[in-house]
Amino acid sequence: MNIRPARVGDAPAIYELIKTFADRKLMIRRSMGEIYESIREFVVAVDDANRVVGCVALHVFWEDLAELKCLAVAEELHGRGVGRKLLDACWAAARELEIASVFTLTYSVGFFERCGYRQIDKAELPHKIWNECVRCPLFPSCTEVALIRTHGAATEATTAHAALELVPLGA
Ligand SMILES: CC(C)(COP(=O)(O)OP(=O)(O)OC[C@H]1O[C@@H](n2cnc3c(N)ncnc32)[C@H](O)[C@@H]1OP(=O)(O)O)[C@@H](O)C(=O)NCCC(=O)NCCS
Repeated sequence: MNIRPARVGDAPAIYELIKTFADRKLMIRRSMGEIYESIREFVVAVDDANRVVGCVALHVFWEDLAELKCLAVAEELHGRGVGRKLLDACWAAARELEIASVFTLTYSVGFFERCGYRQIDKAELPHKIWNECVRCPLFPSCTEVALIRTHGAATEATTAHAALELVPLGA
């Protein structure tokens, strides 16, 4: 199993992987266009046959906040540590960028808690995150849970929250 930055050639496999779970309403569907545009945010897990078996994207919001999106692992490999490895790679990338906090909105709460994330009230997150939510068919009755992992005590999500309050919606 190899964890590496995604390449444009991985986009169709990423699309199919996400679609598998989006069809079951476990995550948000992504178009091929969205995947290509954000391909540099993606990390993939590739098996020995060079098949993409996992993906995740790290989207930077502000100087101290990024979001984990599009996390999916091929069903036949669930429970073998692939998801954790993808999160670890994103956490390392966030640390490299000097971003202190990484959050996610998910139904897979237990998994993220096992990987060091803690639940927070969605209201603690910056308003800017709702730019994407309002385009989701499940809005506003979505039951996704917000979780966050923060490096160090001095940089809580509320710091990012305060900064992002200055950014108008739609920016
Ligand atoms: C959520 C998902 C990415 C987890 O990937 P995975 O490769 O199966 O997870 P891992 O094997 O790395 O598990 C890491 C830890 O989390 C635990 N875990 C995994 N899924 C869990 C769950 N649903 N509930 C509680 N704990 C879970 C594992 O037992 C493991 O714990 P351990 O290291 O203490 O033994 C995978 O189930 C998936 O693709 N689900 C469908 C898409 C989805 O829900 N994406 C979430 C973001 S929208």
